[in-house]
Amino acid sequence: MVKKWFALMIALSVLVIGLVACGSSEDSSNEPSEEPETSDSEEATGEASGTLEIFSWWTGAGEEDGLLALIELFEEKHPEIEVDNAAVAGGAGTNAKAVLTSRMQGNDPPGTFQVHGGAELNDSWVAAGQMDPLNDLFEAEGWADKFPEELIELVSKDGNIYSVPVNIHRGNVLWYNTEIFEEHGLEVPTTFEEFFDVADALQEAGVTPLALGDREPWAATHLFETVLLGTLGADDYNKLWSGEVGMDDPRVEEAAEIFIRMLDYVNEDHSSRNWQDASQLVAQGEAAMNVMGDWAKGYFVNDLNLAVKEDFGWAATPGTEGTFMVITDTFGLPTGVENPEVVKSFLAVLGSQEGQDAFNPLKGSIPARVDADVSKYDEYGQETIEDFKSAELSPSLAHGSAANEGFLTQVNQAINIFVTQKDVDSFVDSLKQYQP
Ligand code: BGC
Repeated sequence: MVKKWFALMIALSVLVIGLVACGSSEDSSNEPSEEPETSDSEEATGEASGTLEIFSWWTGAGEEDGLLALIELFEEKHPEIEVDNAAVAGGAGTNAKAVLTSRMQGNDPPGTFQVHGGAELNDSWVAAGQMDPLNDLFEAEGWADKFPEELIELVSKDGNIYSVPVNIHRGNVLWYNTEIFEEHGLEVPTTFEEFFDVADALQEAGVTPLALGDREPWAATHLFETVLLGTLGADDYNKLWSGEVGMDDPRVEEAAEIFIRMLDYVNEDHSSRNWQDASQLVAQGEAAMNVMGDWAKGYFVNDLNLAVKEDFGWAATPGTEGTFMVITDTFGLPTGVENPEVVKSFLAVLGSQEGQDAFNPLKGSIPARVDADVSKYDEYGQETIEDFKSAELSPSLAHGSAANEGFLTQVNQAINIFVTQKDVDSFVDSLKQYQP
């Protein structure tokens, strides 16, 4: 069985690794690595100075804690650089991506911006020639063997590396309220059949089985893609994105049917809630389960003060045990920014062990680096770090890795209509029509 979907790109990998491996040495400093265009004062001090704009969608509850910790660390190391935290609210980049697009089109790129590894980075900004390669930074920081090969693939195109991954989020997680499950003597479902049995029992007991907050449609796409992963399995789900499996596969329709059936078990006000509001239903015991990426864990623990395993538990979403839906937030160097050395000095901190271990325990994600200090992570984090090593990896569509932004926008629109009209045929027709 093909373990990872990246196998198709092995040839490219060899090229990239070869490029960065040569001459690498692990850093202990976070100094910018090369200074072709540094000013005299930078040469004298080895430090870049100026303002650094960091553009992301990490604002507010469950989102910004990790970023603020990273900024604090960066400011400690680079007091001469002023940070402008230019975050635009909205889960999964709902609003930030639109603002970014207009800025990039207007030749006004942020200093650095949050972008998912995979198609979102490569098919958009790299393909348009709007990102500078970072091979020199990877080489100077000795990162060749510090990130999993699969992640390097996601941030590389044509032999060049274009961004630095700060984390790995897992998308296919079923969160549950432990007290509700205990009270009703229920086992956490691992298959769709078990899911519907548990959901029936909960509904009969007057508990909302599944929390959903799809005011921003991506949350419904997120739920749907985990169902798709469950019906197709990792190998064939991954082949959807290379075109080897078509959207006309009967398991795509099956996923659409399961998804619609699930909607019979969600909170009535789902379309007026965002992801945090839906997670809150589980946290407060008003709903039993929720499917969300593990930024929800950051929210449960840091914002709602829930105890890992005691107040909430987790499992792979039905049918996806042994599979890891990968979401990676990365930052790069847009072409034409005023002070590239300032940006690189931030990327060096973000890609360092210290930076990743400051960010990820708060964010709910695991470090992108392979050499993180696991003692800094809670039980969920440690388990997920292990799972990542052995699981089959699948790219997320809802979070930009699997397919281009145009397709994702169309799927988000189609799913929004699907949730209201519940018309399986017309939803599957849209998927077939738009499949990249
Ligand atoms: C990002 C996460 C973020 C989540 C919710 C995802 O697309 O990768 O970092 O927490 O959206 O906004």
